[in-house]
This record gives sequence, structure tokens and C-alpha cells, in this order.
Amino acid sequence: MSASDPIRPQAIRPKPVRKAVFPVAGLGTRFLPATKAIPKEMLPIIDRPLIQYAVDEAREAGIEQLIFVTGRGKVALVEHFDMAYELETTMRERDKSLDALAPTRIQPGNLLTVRQQVPLGLGHAIWCARAIVGEEPFAVFLPDELMIGSPGCMKQMVEAYQEVGGNLISVLEVPEDEVSSYGVIAPGAQRGALTEVTGLVEKPARGEAPSNLIISGRYILQPEGMAVLDRQEKGAGGEIQLTDAMAQMIGRQPFHAVTFAGKRYDCGSKLGFVEATLALALEREDMAGDVRAMAQRLLASHPPR
Ligand code: G1P
Repeated sequence: MSASDPIRPQAIRPKPVRKAVFPVAGLGTRFLPATKAIPKEMLPIIDRPLIQYAVDEAREAGIEQLIFVTGRGKVALVEHFDMAYELETTMRERDKSLDALAPTRIQPGNLLTVRQQVPLGLGHAIWCARAIVGEEPFAVFLPDELMIGSPGCMKQMVEAYQEVGGNLISVLEVPEDEVSSYGVIAPGAQRGALTEVTGLVEKPARGEAPSNLIISGRYILQPEGMAVLDRQEKGAGGEIQLTDAMAQMIGRQPFHAVTFAGKRYDCGSKLGFVEATLALALEREDMAGDVRAMAQRLLASHPPR
């Protein structure tokens, strides 16, 4: 690697990422009425709620402390990761296995919540966690984005982070006509899965996007980003955008994108949700055969309209 290579390994090993912020205060209006009384992050893909997939991915990456930025009506998210004394006692009495509950166990003290009182944007939601994040690097997970890979998306990012430090986001390519729905990067030098980030734009107008590489809901950020969010500046859609705050870190700290090697499902949309359900069912040893047969039967009895 030449000295002019802009993707340089850090001389000092960066501080480990031990904390993750999960913005889960959203109202989930796209899934009404399903989300009237339960949080959208509790909608299950087969037998696990969306939030469980994100938490599993975080733990696989070595993250210990989970910070949920919640709001009114989101208590079920915390209950999900609490001990269910009556349920467990009853199951034990009936000699039922508690294995299915294993992923819901969190070491006492490792799940913290803060409230986002007013929906002022993703940047604002992350800023609400500033006191718990403190002076450490932290990860951010948008649970709507279901990332399936081996290793998982955040683990791939942590591995890259150990090499280059600074700020990292996961990116993936989408068709040109979809970029306006996302945060988009201006790409610089590239090496393997790593791309230098030279600019960031939130929801660019059609034809004005610097690339078709979009931010796909996973971040590793340095605590200095919180100081930028402190200014509460509004961006696209009149909201306090995380993308705008990150853009201000470019040039001050290393900033890279990691192209995720794996599958991404946009579970914030109904179509993405159905796709994820089918795709994950087809991956599962306990049901793949039956699901395939069922899908074939359904397709045969539903010719295209
Ligand atoms: C948010 C981010 C955007 C990112 C997207 C991924 O947008 O602001 O940069 O690309 O998540 O899903 P939202 O979906 O909240 O509008």
C-alpha cells in the first residue's frame, strides 16, 4: 500500500465499540393498524421480532450495552428483553424447554432506555442517547433494515473499524430511481469492501445524488458526532438528520463506508417485510422444504394478473 493511499490503517488500535443505540421511537404508521398497539419493531419475521435480529447482530459484533431510544407505547420492547417470571415458572412446571427465550436474555444493566419526547428526526433520536454514550465510539442500528449475513453486518464493520478507526457506515447499491429515499455517499478511494466517504447527502433530489450507494442503517460513530448534533440543525424534510451531522465529520476524522457482504431487507416497507419472511423461511432448516412446497402451490394457484 502506498503512503498516498487514503484508506490507511490506524497506527493506534481504536477504542472498542461497546455501546449501540437503537432508535425505536417511530410511530410505524406504514404498518397501521398492526402497529396501533404494538411497536413496529415487535412485528415478527417468522418467530423473532425485528428488534431481536438487530440485537443479535449487535451482540455477535461484541457490543455489550444496548441503548433504546423509545417513546410512548414502546414498553413491549423493554418487556421483550426482561425476565418473564410467570411465563418461565409455568413453562418449567410443565417441563417445557426455555431455549427459545435464550436470545431475549440481557445481562442486568446492559439495556438502557431514554425517551425521545418529540419526533424531530433520526439525528435528534441519536442525540437523546448522548449522556449514556459519553466519550466512547458507538454503533447505531436501524432495526427496519434487516441485515442477514455471516458474519453479520456489524461484525463486518467492527472488523473494518479495527483497521481504519473513525466513523463507518454500511452501504449498498440501489437502482438510481430509489436513491432519493435514502442517505447517499460521495465515494472516494476504494480498497476491498472499504470506500472512503468524501461527502454525504440525505435524500437527494433525483439526478443530484453523488452515487447510488445508500446508507443502509448501520453506523459506527465517534462521540464527537454528538457535539455536532448538539446544534440541532435541521436538514432534509425539516428534520434533524444524522446524515448532516456525519457530513460535518468528514475531513476531521477518518470516514469510510463498508459494502455489506450479505442480504438486506427493507422491513420498513410491506413488500420488504413479506420478502424477508419468505427468504428467511426458505433459509431455515426446520421449515425450508415445507415453505418451498407451499410457495410453489400458491404460485401455481395464483397466475399473474
Ligand atoms: C434513514 C436515514 C437514511 C438511511 C435510511 C436507511 O432514513 O436518514 O440516511 O439511508 O434510514 O433505511 P429514513 O428511512 O428514516 O427516512
